[in-house]
Amino acid sequence: MLDLSPYLSFGNTVQCSSFFKINKTQDLEDYFTNSIGKGYLILGGGSNVLFLKEKTGLDILFISLKGKHVVLEEDAYDLVEFSAGENWHESVIWSLDQGYGGIENLSLIPGTIGAAPIQNIGAYGVEIKDVLHSVNVFDTKEKRSFILHNSECKFAYRDSIFKSKHKGKFVITAVTLKLKKSDYNINATYGAIGQKLIHKGIDKPSPKDISDLVIDIRKTKLPDPKELGNGGSFFKNPVVKNSVLHQILKMYSEVPHYPINENYSKLPAGWLIEKVGWKGKRVGNVGCHKDQALVIVNYGKATGQEIWNHALNVQASVNEVFGISLIPEVNIIEA
Ligand code: FAD
Ligand code: EPU
Repeated sequence: MLDLSPYLSFGNTVQCSSFFKINKTQDLEDYFTNSIGKGYLILGGGSNVLFLKEKTGLDILFISLKGKHVVLEEDAYDLVEFSAGENWHESVIWSLDQGYGGIENLSLIPGTIGAAPIQNIGAYGVEIKDVLHSVNVFDTKEKRSFILHNSECKFAYRDSIFKSKHKGKFVITAVTLKLKKSDYNINATYGAIGQKLIHKGIDKPSPKDISDLVIDIRKTKLPDPKELGNGGSFFKNPVVKNSVLHQILKMYSEVPHYPINENYSKLPAGWLIEKVGWKGKRVGNVGCHKDQALVIVNYGKATGQEIWNHALNVQASVNEVFGISLIPEVNIIEA
């Protein structure tokens, strides 16, 4: 038996009886050819999964594929391929060191390269889909490798075919990004970044400047899973009809909201959770973080089920007060 808790950002105890380290694509072919169909979970950095049971019956496939190289150099951008087991944030820093821009707003997001397209990671005005060229996948049903281009991945807010339509079908083995070496597309649209730039007197920020600011902002807002177990935002920010928004605005004119199109708007789940009274509230081993209500934290000894029960209570409160059903962003593993 292996305790997976060091591999999980929630830090809850999960025993597993079979653990496979995937060091090369051939290991996937071997596993899926010989598997007896008992069920498997692909594991990257473990920063967006919550196991409900203390003993999983799944085979855990730990993605350890390493390497990165420039595939193509163009005038406008380079194509750079990163293997799935590379750490995301270290890859951002490596890219900046090479003079590349494009993923600086996504600095300090935990996890691996291979998991980044699963929920189309995003932060501070940028999503990976904005710079993603293609994804190398291993098809677990057909047992062969091929490439999916950006448009085939059907990226949306915290979603892709890997998280919805084809959940579990593909193992991502590498990701190729379009990174710029000049004429950077600097994105300082997120309020706090703009303010910090003015405060620091930077009027022409480099990708590295943006990365430094993002790292600063994240460190003040989000708990470090090494100190307090968590999976980042537990729920997605809900997209609601404008009629729902207008009802809420009647009671709370200050509600932050972002238009999606003429009929729909996105609301911050953290604000909704705070309004129903869960921010900073602890129940036993679990709570909603004091600075960011959307982050559910494990105070040390919580089981996966306790964390999930807390999430269900939070979800029920928001539903009762606002009639909005929050959808988990974290991947819930029941087996
Ligand atoms: P894991 O947790 O290991 O896996 C997540 C899912 O992807 C699972 O379903 C798993 O089976 C699947 N998977 C993993 N690797 C592969 C692969 N190679 N092929 C196929 N399937 C795979 N996310 C954001 O978008 N923006 C943020 O700002 C953000 N901030 C965070 C802050 C904190 C403190 C934490 C703890 C999390 C945050 N997250 C954020 C969520 C998380 O970092 C991302 O979802 C990240 O991409 C997960 O990577 P991972 O390697 O840890 O994935
Ligand atoms: N807010 C509150 N109370 C709270 C938390 C937030 O009122 O307890 C308000 C804030 O004041 C702000 C708004 O809600 O007006 C949005 O908050 P914030 O900027 O902190 O971002 P978020 O919407 O809570 C999203 C992502 C994060 C990402 C940040 C930055 C989702 C589900 N979460 O959080 O991603 O880092 O924006 O771009 O989209 C993650 O996915 O795990 C994650 C951390």
